[in-house]
Amino acid sequence: MSADLAGFAAAYARHRAAEGRGHSGEALMALPYLRGGPLARQWAVRARSFETLVGDVVAPLAKRLGRPLSVLDLGAGNGWLSWRLALAGHSAIALDIREDEVDGLGAARALAARAEGRMQLRPGSFAAISAPDASVDLAVFNAALHYALDLPAVLAEAARVVRPGGRLAIVDSPFYRREADGVAMVAEKKAGASQRFGEGADVLLAPPFIEFLTRARLAEASAASGLAWRRRRVLYPLWYEARPLLARLRGQRVPSRFDVWMSARP
Ligand SMILES: C[S@@+](CC[C@H](N)C(=O)[O-])C[C@H]1O[C@@H](n2cnc3c(N)ncnc32)[C@H](O)[C@@H]1O
Repeated sequence: MSADLAGFAAAYARHRAAEGRGHSGEALMALPYLRGGPLARQWAVRARSFETLVGDVVAPLAKRLGRPLSVLDLGAGNGWLSWRLALAGHSAIALDIREDEVDGLGAARALAARAEGRMQLRPGSFAAISAPDASVDLAVFNAALHYALDLPAVLAEAARVVRPGGRLAIVDSPFYRREADGVAMVAEKKAGASQRFGEGADVLLAPPFIEFLTRARLAEASAASGLAWRRRRVLYPLWYEARPLLARLRGQRVPSRFDVWMSARP
């Protein structure tokens, strides 16, 4: 891992702890269904994405293959997605550069211990995945692809480990219809960084992450690996769906939305 990324990982864990993301016990096992607290609204959105992932990607693929899936959870954090899939009978590998106990793989250990062997933890980067070629049915970037430093390379690397006919999915990364809105978001983030991130701001902003996606960015970055992405539109809570309208009324830039993006592995 580069010095930039190692510094980021440590500062990110501190930031996530400050944000109250250190779930454990029942709350961790319940994710993405977090009912109370300041993060409940955000998790209500994430739960909808998760349900679309399961309904539109996981279930049809498992049905077609006639067996539970092997899934690679890229940027898994505390491993909640791997845990959910393991509960449903699939096998999951949770991969992340962070091993801290806030919401890195250190936190995922408690889940893996209860997953009856169907959840493995794999420290490492999605830029160089320690898994053989064509070894999983599905690779999911769950709120993680916007941390890619080199989007074409990261997509090609994920495609490498998925079996032909398998699937790749992008969940909960910010997508903008227009590049300019994504660029504006990044500028706003930088301008408000010291207020939002405190002392860790410089370190958190040091790695040149891609930060956001657009349909065009994704298509261009996927050309070499032959991936062709389709959006599965998620029906989010009303307040989330209303954000573009409210932004327009307030004269603000158009916000991102998540949705689930899926590609077959050619
Ligand atoms: C917003 S968190 C999402 C965590 C979890 N997937 C979830 O949905 O709650 C993004 C995660 O991506 C991880 N990450 C960032 N860059 C990565 C990389 N190059 N390889 C693997 N994981 C990475 C971070 O450590 C972090 O845990």
